[in-house]
This record gives sequence, structure tokens and C-alpha cells, in this order.
Amino acid sequence: MTKSSTFDASALPDLTGRVVLITGGHSGLGLATTTALASKNAKVYIATRSITKAEAAIQEIKNNNPNAQVEIVELDLGDLRSVKKGAEDFLQRETSLHILINNAGIMCPPFSLTPQGHETQLQTNHLAHHLLTTLLLPLLFKTASTSPPRTVRVLNVSSDAHRKLAPKTGISFSDMNLTDKSPWTRYGHSKLCNVLHSLSLAEKYGNQNLLSLSLHPGTVKTNLSHGPRTSTPLYALIQPLIEWGAPGPTEGCANILWCATSDSVRDDDNGMYFEPVGKRGGVGRHGRDAVMAGRLWEWSQGVLERGGFL
Ligand SMILES: NC(=O)c1ccc[n+]([C@@H]2O[C@H](COP(=O)([O-])OP(=O)(O)OC[C@H]3O[C@@H](n4cnc5c(N)ncnc54)[C@H](OP(=O)(O)O)[C@@H]3O)[C@@H](O)[C@H]2O)c1
Repeated sequence: MTKSSTFDASALPDLTGRVVLITGGHSGLGLATTTALASKNAKVYIATRSITKAEAAIQEIKNNNPNAQVEIVELDLGDLRSVKKGAEDFLQRETSLHILINNAGIMCPPFSLTPQGHETQLQTNHLAHHLLTTLLLPLLFKTASTSPPRTVRVLNVSSDAHRKLAPKTGISFSDMNLTDKSPWTRYGHSKLCNVLHSLSLAEKYGNQNLLSLSLHPGTVKTNLSHGPRTSTPLYALIQPLIEWGAPGPTEGCANILWCATSDSVRDDDNGMYFEPVGKRGGVGRHGRDAVMAGRLWEWSQGVLERGGFL
């Protein structure tokens, strides 16, 4: 498999026998990724809060590919109780997991708190994915123990916003909800959390044949702009400029597919961040900070343990 800006689903290897779980796999980049992986015979679980939308997406996939194996796991990242239930449901249904894609996300909604008291972007984009990953780790390890090197992967779909929009000082441990900051800063902060989560996963579990990567998909036309259009009225005016020339999800998911399957990924890439397509570098200063990653890990574990989720 080559590293190329024209990388697409046709370059994917056969994925027969591989099990994938992807959050938000029914729309945008997630749907394009689900469609591509299923087209290469992977069994894909869409983890979603939107069952009707996911059923429609699966129908659409099967209309073109009747043999596609795509199933639903119900899970709302906005409520950690639901994440735990969804993970338990998946663990009862499957005996292996090769690729976990933490893809679902929201960008710049107005400030609000989840039932667990976390700012909605922080929980949806980071904390809920930290919980999901942690609950699925035993199955990932089990699968990795009988798989060739670099087969079993955890991807965090981050963004270049991790370096462009996060606070200049990095993770804000004194106020993780960033109460007084803009929705854009909170988005960048949550995406920096994604990069640091991957760094910690690699540091802690690289010796268990688990490959953990974060990535920026590029600017892609999807529903993600719903958030900023709600919180930042001016966004509707500048959106055409921001998205000028941007691809749709089918082309735009190339970096996710590359990170999920490419055999060009090396052992020493573990924990790294990739820009489209398969490009090393581009990570911000804080995204390489192992001490900050360790503090974020402790904070996330602590919150989840105190809440009774771990
Ligand atoms: N598009 C871009 O230009 C771009 C650039 C950089 C990074 N990204 C990242 O790419 C990822 C995918 O975004 P996208 O562009 O494909 O946007 P999208 O079309 O809006 O898709 C986002 C997905 O996340 C799901 N989601 C949101 N809140 C959820 C919750 N509480 N529980 C479960 N699922 C939830 C949505 O499901 P519902 O239908 O239920 O809302 C949807 O399937 C995000 O992490 C985003 O930050 C995108």
C-alpha cells in the first residue's frame, strides 16, 4: 500500500475477519469510513445515538453491497452511562476487535454541561472516548495477542485545531470545562485531548502489540459545521470560504482509512499524529508533551473512577 494524496478505498487490503468499531459511523466521515471498510469485508459496528439514521445508512450501504456486514451499537457519548452500556453490549456480542475508531465529534456548540457535569465538547470528543477505549482494552489486547504486528489499532480522529485553537498553555487542568473561553477554544482543547490520549495509549500499551494513532482528516464538507452555525452566527458567512475546494467525506476519509490499515505505519509511529494522507509531523508543541499526556490520563481516569464508570 502506498502513501499518496490519491489514497482511497481501492487501495485498502482485504479485511476479511477484521472487526471494527467506529463511533459516529452513520454519517459524514464516519459513514464514508464504514462504507469503505465494509467494502473490503471488514465487519463494522457503528456506535451511535441515532438508531434511525444508522439503520438508513446501513440500508444504503447494503443497497450497493448486499454482503456488507454492518451492525449497530447504541451509545450516546453525551452520557457516560450510555457509553458503558454500549461497551458492555458490544463485549457480549464480539470476541475480537481489531480497529477502534474514535471518530464521532461535535464542533463549537454553545456552552452546556452533560448529565455528568462536563462541558459537552470535552465529554463527547474526549472523555467518553477515553471511557469507551478503556472498557474495550481487554478485548483489544486479546485480539492483539493473536494478530500480526500493527494489526490492532486505536485511532483518535482529532484535528489540526489541536494546535491552532487550543489554549496557548495546553490542557487547562484548573478548569477543564474552559467556562470562560470561546466554543472554538473548547473545540481545540478537546482535540488536543485526542492527540494526548493517543500518546498515552502508545506509551502504556505499545508493548501489548497495540498501535495508537491520532489524525487530522483535513477540511471536509460534513455536518460538523452545525455547531459553529449555532454558536457563531458569522460562521454561516465565512463557511463557504473555509470549505472552498474541500472534498466530501468519500474522498475526505482517506487519512482515516490510511491510519486504520496502512502497512506503511511503523512501530516507532506508535502514539503519533498524522495529517492527510499518512503524513508525519504537523503535531503541535503540546501534542508531543508526554508529561501533559500523563496528567490528562490521570485526570480522565480519576474522573471516570470517581463517577463509578471504571
Ligand atoms: N469535517 C472536517 O472538516 C473535520 C476536520 C477536522 C476534524 N474532524 C473530525 O472528524 C470527526 C467526524 O466529524 P465529521 O466531519 O464527519 O462530522 P459529522 O458529519 O457532524 O459527524 C459527526 C458524528 O458524530 C456523532 N456524534 C455527535 N455527538 C454524538 C454523541 N453524543 N454520541 C454519539 N455520536 C455523536 C454524530 O452523530 P449524530 O447524527 O447522532 O449527531 C455524527 O455521526 C470529528 O471528530 C471531527 O472533529 C472533521
